[in-house]
Formats: sequence, structure tokens, C-alpha cells
Amino acid sequence: MDIAEKEKQFQDKIDSGQKIEAKEWVPENYRKQLIRMISQHAHSEIVGMLPEGNWITRAPSLRRKAVLLAKIQDEAGHGLYLYSAAETLGVERGELIDQLITGKAKYSSIFNYPTLTWADIGAIGWLVDGAAIVNQTMLARGSYGPYSRAMVRICKEESFHNRQGYELLYDLAQGTPEQKAMAQDALNRWWWPSIQMLGPSDADSKNSGETMRWRIKVESNDTVRQRFIDRTVPQAEAAGLTIPDPDLKFNEETGHWEIGEIDWTEFYQVIKGYGPCNKKRLRARQEAEHEGEWVREAAKVYAEKQAAKKTKAA
Ligand code: 3HC
Repeated sequence: MDIAEKEKQFQDKIDSGQKIEAKEWVPENYRKQLIRMISQHAHSEIVGMLPEGNWITRAPSLRRKAVLLAKIQDEAGHGLYLYSAAETLGVERGELIDQLITGKAKYSSIFNYPTLTWADIGAIGWLVDGAAIVNQTMLARGSYGPYSRAMVRICKEESFHNRQGYELLYDLAQGTPEQKAMAQDALNRWWWPSIQMLGPSDADSKNSGETMRWRIKVESNDTVRQRFIDRTVPQAEAAGLTIPDPDLKFNEETGHWEIGEIDWTEFYQVIKGYGPCNKKRLRARQEAEHEGEWVREAAKVYAEKQAAKKTKAA
């Protein structure tokens, strides 16, 4: 078959809702888009541990500390799981991590904001993991088997992350006036960056044409964003917290919450590297990479010794 016939057969398979598995022929750009999205997703999970890790030693109770530790451990696993999914596309994990360490690779804009108070840990679980779940349950229906299946397992753990975050912030909002103010302050700072993290508007999204034609994403950024907003506004109301958007209003006809203008200038500034914590996050990852060198070296020598033993025994 020539390329045109292969591409037609591939598109027919996508359009019929079948999964594409590793080692199957795919258009080069299908592979490139997946490596781009999956690697950024994996980097997001790893970098996302940093703002939360900042509060492990300062959690207000043993229970909150244990829950936070479990969540951060999950995120590390998600990152390793997603690097494995990327490797099914023929890319080396080391190459992807180098791209992160050298500042070439993107990771989610949301992790370039600081965690200033304990309430931020609740806001991250509730809003960031909440937005991630809405996005990831959509990606779980995507066409590439290894990635869509990774989403199924990750979403189960994200649901725990989302509930623990909402519970944390809800409890604070029912507490003393100072605690409620802390919860409201966290919502004020994390609401709009959580809206932005779901990607540019459909009109400005330069990859969505391809990623949706090939059902890597089965719904658009704006559709996922609207679902996140509709799900989250009532939760804020139930907690007695106010969404920081004077233009927020419920449209009885459409059944959706309508929000004010999104500040895309801030979003593009952050993804260009000028967010509040971009430099700090990159430095932390570079230091961790350097400090972990001896572990990788020891593992390599051990593997070589084991392989030499096997060869000798054979
Ligand atoms: N942060 C950083 N970069 C972003 C971004 C964000 N929130 N949203 C978009 N961009 C970048 C894109 O990577 C693209 O740049 P590139 O072409 O150089 O890669 C550019 O902005 C244009 O955006 P597009 O709309 O064309 O990009 P996408 O179609 O990829 O849409 C996305 C963006 C919705 C984030 C999509 O990439 C996606 O669904 N990715 C997989 C999920 C993911 O990465 N989630 C990270 C969230 S954090 C997380 O899950 C951790 C959990 O524990 C909370």
C-alpha cells in the first residue's frame, strides 16, 4: 500500500472507534502529537509534586500528612507510568527527561504557581486534580491504546486526590473566620490558573485540529473546560466559598455556568517561562537529577554485574 492508502486505512480505523496499539503503522504526526502530549503530561505529574511537597512537613495533622504523602506518591507513579506510555512510541525516557531538565519541554502551566498556605494544598486537589480528572476521563476514550488505558488507572487515583482536596478546603471554610479567609484566598489564587490549564480556547488551539481528527483528544479544550466549570461552581457554593469572577452567571437555557474573560496573556506568559515559579521548578528538577546521579550509576553497575553473571553461567 502507498502512504495515501495507509493513511486512509488508519483514519477509517480511528473513525470506527478502534484503538491503535503500539507497533502498528501510524502517520508520523500522530506519533509526534502523542509523544508531545504524553511527555508533557508525564513532566506535569513529576513537577506537580514540588508545590505539594512544600507542605509535607507542615501538614496540620498526622492524617493530613499521610493523605498528602499518599497523593504525592501517586503523582510520581503517574509520571513513571506516562513515561512508559511514551516509550511505546519509540522514544527514550532519558531523552524526554533531558528535555525537561534543559528547559526545552513544557509541563502544565498550573505548577508554576506558589503554594503560599496550607489551603493551597486543598485548592490543588480540588481544582487542579479536578480539572485533570475531567480532561483525563476524556483522554481515556482516546484512540491510542497505551495512553487511554493509562488514563483509566490514573483517573481512579485522581478521584481520591480531588476528594481529599475538596474535603480539606471545605473543612477550612467551615472553621474559624481566619480559616475561611485562608480557603477563600486559595480559591481566589487558583481558580483562573485552573481554568487556563485546560489549554487555549478552541479558536487558538494549534494542535487540536490534528489531535481531534485522530481522536487523541475526543473533545475540545473549551468543552472540557465548560464541564469542569459546571462541576466546580456548585461545589464552591456548597462550601460557602465565592468563585472570584464577578461575571459568573448561570444560563438557564443552556444549563451551563458562564464565566468572565479568561486572561490568556497571563497563560502565555507562564508557558513561555515567565510564571511566578518557572525558574524555581526547573532548578529543583535539575538539582534532583544531579543528586540522583549516584543512584542511576549504582543501578547501572549492578545491572551490568548481573548480566555478566548470567553470561558466565550460560
Ligand atoms: N500548560 C503548558 N502548556 C500548555 C498548556 C498548559 N496548561 N495548555 C496548552 N499548552 C501548550 C501546548 O503544549 C501547545 O504547545 P506545544 O505545541 O509546544 O506542545 C500550545 O500550548 C498550544 O496548545 P494546544 O491547545 O494546541 O495544545 P493541546 O491540544 O496539547 O492542549 C492540553 C493542551 C489540554 C493540556 C493537552 O495537551 C492535554 O490534554 N494534555 C494531556 C493532559 C495533561 O498534560 N495534563 C496536565 C495537567 S496536570 C496533571 O495532570 C497532574 C495531576 O496530578 C493534577
